[in-house]
Amino acid sequence: MLFKIAVLAGDGIGPEVTREALKVFLAVAAKFGHTINYEEALVGGAALEVEDTAITEASMQLCKASDAILFGAVGLPKYDNAPMAKRPEEALFRLRKTFELFANLRPVKNLPMLQAASTIKPETLAGVDLVVVRELTGGLYFGQPAKRYVEDGQRKAIDTLPYTELEVSRIVRTAFELARARNGKKRVTSVDKANVLNTSRLWREIASEIASEYPDIELEHMLVDSAAMNLIRRPAAFDVIVTENMFGDILTDEASMLAGSMGLLASASLGTRHNEYGGQFGMYEPIHGSAPDITGQGIANPLAAIGCVAMLLRSTYNLQEEASAIETAIMAVLEEGLRTPDLAAAGTTRVNTVQMGDAVVAKL
Ligand code: IPM
Ligand code: MG
Repeated sequence: MLFKIAVLAGDGIGPEVTREALKVFLAVAAKFGHTINYEEALVGGAALEVEDTAITEASMQLCKASDAILFGAVGLPKYDNAPMAKRPEEALFRLRKTFELFANLRPVKNLPMLQAASTIKPETLAGVDLVVVRELTGGLYFGQPAKRYVEDGQRKAIDTLPYTELEVSRIVRTAFELARARNGKKRVTSVDKANVLNTSRLWREIASEIASEYPDIELEHMLVDSAAMNLIRRPAAFDVIVTENMFGDILTDEASMLAGSMGLLASASLGTRHNEYGGQFGMYEPIHGSAPDITGQGIANPLAAIGCVAMLLRSTYNLQEEASAIETAIMAVLEEGLRTPDLAAAGTTRVNTVQMGDAVVAKL
């Protein structure tokens, strides 16, 4: 096959981990007889520096003309106080919104050989295998009004949390379909704050309605505060968790500790655009950010970015074997004891970003 990929490495450790992901991508393509036609573009702070916008129209066009986007990370401390339109994150929001990438899938699995790297007890981690389905184009991230202003001599700010029936029903349906397709516990946990928020009460109502179309799947409702607790109390009980944009953002950082490190979690952002390969247009992005504190040291964990390539092959091109080859290679290097510093534990071998990428390629 001929793959057409837009590569947006972005800021901080984004370029460091994306380079390794691309290396693995090229290796797997060569092994299975595919060709990658990829083009790189600036995004985030890197684009703001040079192009004065977090993402140019040309880069948006490049993404549109591609089958998938391989994304690194955006965000730099120097933009912390910049207005919204001049922030690196704006690129991410534009991409998500423009391509209607409403479903962000974030799988979290505990691998036994990584249990020592987690702060959570091994017996609690055993059997953790869940996916968070995060709504990605609605809620607080996009609601209007959203602004800073001054009134009555006081600084004020407002953000708005809107959801429509369409937005809720399509993400909840995605979660049920996933629960059905997965070889899991056949359970959807819908996370909300229905004791406080109107949007959550709408969400819960719609989730219950949709559940009646899926008699083979159990639906449970859980308040977000309780979900935060249960994620570390009994994480193995979860299968598919579906939730709104910001709750999903927060819970997935928490859930990354069930895997062992933020540096392990890949994600796929999918929408409505299907392709002729039986897959979907998607954007693939590690859940970790640009990590300015470790940028340039060459120690970032590239496994989340590499995991993104596996998700891309599966969700965009429907290539199961190729995707599995990457996942198996990741398992093999971890089994061998190779660890970037985020996962360091006694008895393991410390490697840097490039060495980890090379090790995965060697296992392919
Ligand atoms: C994520 C990130 C982004 C988000 C940031 C960088 C805006 O935290 O993808 O989880 O909040 O969506
Ligand atoms: Mg986040």
